[in-house]
Amino acid sequence: MKSNKAEKSASQWTLFKRILSLAKFQQHWMILAIFMTIFQSVITAFQPYLYKMVIDSVIIPKQFHLLEKWALILLGWLLLQAALGFANSYLSESIAQSVILKLRQYVYDHLTRLKLSFYDKTPVGTAVTRSISDIQTITDLFSSGVITIAGDLIQIVVILGCMFYMDVKLTLITLTVVPLLLFAANRFRKGIRDTFQDVRNQVAKLNAFLQERITGMQMVQLFNREKEEMRRFDQINQAHRDANIRSIYYYAIFFPIVEVLVACSFALIVWYGSGALVQGSIEFGELTAFIMFINLFFRPVRAIADRFNNIQMGIVAADRIFKLIDDTDNIEATSENLAPVLQGGVTFNDVWFAYQQNDWVLKGISFDLSQGKTMAIVGATGSGKTTIAALVNQLYQHQQGDILLDGLNIKDLNITSVRQQIALVLQDVFLFSGSVKDNIRLHHPEIDIEKMINAARSIGAYEFIEKLPGGFDYNVMERGMTLSLGQRQLISFIRALAFDPRIILLDEATSSIDTETEQLIQKAIDRLLEGRTAIVIAHRLSTIAKADEILVLDKGTVIERGNHQQLMSAGGHYAHLYETQIRD
Ligand SMILES: Nc1ncnc2c1ncn2[C@@H]1O[C@H](COP(=O)(O)OP(=O)(O)OP(=O)(O)O)[C@@H](O)[C@H]1O
Ligand SMILES: [Mg+2]
Repeated sequence: MKSNKAEKSASQWTLFKRILSLAKFQQHWMILAIFMTIFQSVITAFQPYLYKMVIDSVIIPKQFHLLEKWALILLGWLLLQAALGFANSYLSESIAQSVILKLRQYVYDHLTRLKLSFYDKTPVGTAVTRSISDIQTITDLFSSGVITIAGDLIQIVVILGCMFYMDVKLTLITLTVVPLLLFAANRFRKGIRDTFQDVRNQVAKLNAFLQERITGMQMVQLFNREKEEMRRFDQINQAHRDANIRSIYYYAIFFPIVEVLVACSFALIVWYGSGALVQGSIEFGELTAFIMFINLFFRPVRAIADRFNNIQMGIVAADRIFKLIDDTDNIEATSENLAPVLQGGVTFNDVWFAYQQNDWVLKGISFDLSQGKTMAIVGATGSGKTTIAALVNQLYQHQQGDILLDGLNIKDLNITSVRQQIALVLQDVFLFSGSVKDNIRLHHPEIDIEKMINAARSIGAYEFIEKLPGGFDYNVMERGMTLSLGQRQLISFIRALAFDPRIILLDEATSSIDTETEQLIQKAIDRLLEGRTAIVIAHRLSTIAKADEILVLDKGTVIERGNHQQLMSAGGHYAHLYETQIRD
């Protein structure tokens, strides 16, 4: 048990050091901040001493001609203290924000490099919580944790020194409440630590739930799930509240206890001090200064428990973030070897793939598509069509077999350089909030306005976009929900064409579209495939019939292949599929 505890605190210490190392690039500022904090603490600690001097050497001996000088000294002292206070909070907050900026960049960069399979397993809300609120907690660790604690400790030491120097007895009396205070602070710290974990978990849950329901609001309303979803939301919401109340409980009980202890200490000093004053063993200014000292002494003592909390919470949050960024298993490993300019040959050699271990979705797929040819894939839903397209782009990595591009093994090529030459038009078009223009160009410097307009013209979508309010500047709302499916698809076609890829992967949407858009799309597809190697997951007969080869897929295996004519005359699955589905 004990060694376990030691291990835990050792790892906390390692974590803590690692967090500090995040601020390494701010080292000079950190050191400056710590020095200034120390300076401020010392200045503050000496303040009562000045008052004592004023009272005992100016006011009581009635040396009023010195009063002006002392008033100026005191004013200067206070101004200096205020200026240091300002500089300190500004500096430490700036340091914290710069560290956090860097950490957030790092986390975001990491998120963009994670394999898609990571996102299949992680709720969006959780990933968002990691990159927003957990990081925020680390800010507190810097701004009101590490640096301020150094100042607090120094302040306590200096004040204690002054107190002992002035009067040992009074100081000892003041300190009688400290053991109780330490005991309370320790309980407080432990309580907060446990509840904090809980609070963070509940926040992540709440975020994940809300994120999903807001995205899927259509479903919630369509199926009248409002009441049921409300009930589930209530549960999560209540758990969130309870976790917070548990942590607030500790705050609520700790601070009043501290107040009572401080008050006891005051009472003791006033009681003892007045006796000593009457007996003349203490001067009036000294007693006044002492009472001020008590106030100054308990301020950092009171705050320090909370500051340790900030550090502790920062460590908990950092632990989660480090776990996320250390998880290199989920990072795409890719070769340094840049792909040459591709001609467009795509070959699958006995490719096996499973999203989850050994639950094979593709079982030995082979085909050889030469450059400039079009291959159509048809098959029942769930047979693995989209998965094949995803593998050509290596959005997922196949477990067995080889995928070759122009005869080069895709695993030996740098994946970014491969993806640059392949366009994937998805079944479900995703648009970012922003203008149509930005959605087509994706802020790519190589795609200028002219290229974009040419692409739109050449697939015949220019008029449709010009008709939108604002044309290419039309503001697409989140996920493009304000555009029809057909319109979204046309935009994704323009995007694919503007990038002028060698290989195009087209996953046609199944839903039927109005005839006008349908014709537009038909034309657009023809234009898009012209002169490129294409793998088309098609539902339109016109597209399928034009293909050089058709693969018929069933449960992850190719059951038939050939062109339309051959397959129709064979009278097998394709012919049947054609009769029952495609012709409609
Ligand atoms: N990200 C994923 N994680 C786990 N399993 C998945 C994932 N995507 C798809 N699958 C599974 O893989 C199988 C093949 O899916 P795929 O999307 O390739 O089918 P499809 O042929 O494109 O179907 P559809 O015609 O409906 O688009 C399905 O059983 C599906 O449940
Ligand atoms: Mg699909």
